[in-house]
Amino acid sequence: MRLSIIFLLCVLFSCSNQKEQPRKPLNEAVSGLYDSARKPFYHGVASGDPLPDRVIIWTRVTPEYSVSKIAVKWEVSEKPDFSSVLQSDTLSTTPARDYTVKVDVQGLQPATVYYYRFHALNHTSPTGRTKTTPTGRADSLKFAVVSCSNWEWGYFNAYARIAEKELDAVIHLGDYIYEYGVGRYGDTTIGRINIPPHEIITLQDYRTRHSQYRLDEGLRAMSAAHPLIAIWDDHEVANNSYKAGAENHQPDKEGDYYTRKEAARKAYYEWLPIREGATHYRAFPFGELAHLIMLDERLEGRDAPPATPQEAQQQRSMLGQTQLQWLLDNLRTTAQWKIIGNQVIFSDIDLRPVYPNMPRNLDAWDGYLSEKLLIKKFILDNKLNNIVFITGDTHAAWGIEVATDVAKTYNPKTSAGAFAVEFGTTSVSSANDNEYRSTDTVKLMEQQLLRANPHIKYLNDRDHGYLLLTLLPDKARAEYFVVETLRTADGRERRDKVLHVKSGTIKLY
Ligand SMILES: [Fe+2]
Repeated sequence: MRLSIIFLLCVLFSCSNQKEQPRKPLNEAVSGLYDSARKPFYHGVASGDPLPDRVIIWTRVTPEYSVSKIAVKWEVSEKPDFSSVLQSDTLSTTPARDYTVKVDVQGLQPATVYYYRFHALNHTSPTGRTKTTPTGRADSLKFAVVSCSNWEWGYFNAYARIAEKELDAVIHLGDYIYEYGVGRYGDTTIGRINIPPHEIITLQDYRTRHSQYRLDEGLRAMSAAHPLIAIWDDHEVANNSYKAGAENHQPDKEGDYYTRKEAARKAYYEWLPIREGATHYRAFPFGELAHLIMLDERLEGRDAPPATPQEAQQQRSMLGQTQLQWLLDNLRTTAQWKIIGNQVIFSDIDLRPVYPNMPRNLDAWDGYLSEKLLIKKFILDNKLNNIVFITGDTHAAWGIEVATDVAKTYNPKTSAGAFAVEFGTTSVSSANDNEYRSTDTVKLMEQQLLRANPHIKYLNDRDHGYLLLTLLPDKARAEYFVVETLRTADGRERRDKVLHVKSGTIKLY
């Protein structure tokens, strides 16, 4: 009797409650870009931060109505058809994390391919493929290296081509999104228009921009095909950001920088398949063959950049003391190739022939000379070899024998004086110089820069694409791929250049 009354009361309460609270459509700013066939997994799936025994898997579930919680089941299998499921569990996502889902799947085997998928709201996600890192010996490793993908400058065709390759991981060196409003930095004639239309500042702004970028077909394909190892550069917050400010942040109009930085950071961690730890800089062992060191050269410890080349001589930190010491400790690894995921160019570059008023890029390591020289000294004092910087940011492709004070200490014939190599990847889509000048003019500029900088062996400031880095026991290989166009989703690409360096040497050939 007592139970029946309670039951009746519950039913009555529940009915009246439903009438009082009609469901509210989610109405997202990017919903016009949603492909209804993909509902509710419009943004696909992704994986990242692989280790020998674990990897992050990610998706986003987009409900039709604003709900407080969505149950999501995940599955991991060694078989693409999921005929046997290795691990599975159910969790819930909420608006507090923008309905994104992230699982750190543990207890996996090293150097193994896994497949994963999600179930939610009576639908099943596309299947993702990922791979754990090796322990011990590895015969070869292959990475795609990317940076600088800008929605308005065009389609992410480079990502789509990377999706088709056999890889161990994709390394993203930053500028994964850009913060600008419509037409401020891009080619709006292509028809890809920023959402929201204004410069992104709030948490909702950053979430919306991430959501939009993830709807690009190429980004969705690459994310489903390979694990991602990403680090941010400046535009994930605002142009030329550093610990306490950014060139593109005006506190009088845009509020407190730290509030904006925290909003950008929260959205980034929600929308990328990254393990959330105390620091953004982190290292990835790939057995005896390689150790990947991913640096945070923006938000962790960077002092404001110098205003003049003279100021660049002053004491100034790019990494901050704690991260710098962490880098040096990691460089002592016994792994053969030490790969430094580096946002801004490390090598000295004399820009005077093409930019007389800007002899050095002071936002890059040329503005942070004391710390650059300290790292160089550490490498030489400890006789460390096989150090490879991989670098983004410049929207140009580079192959460089890393030397400092080039005119005095470097011999271009023998490579004596150089202590590492640097492979710079061009942009996925952000403007090269020939989006502003004629291609012939840019070719001339490249030749002038190569003449003034004999340690630079390859430079392409005209094309968009990516870098394929292959590590072998006897050599490393950099293959520079470029795509034909950004104006449409297009499958054409070509290999513009190949450079090698033998183990134990510096000379690029
Ligand atoms: Fe960029």
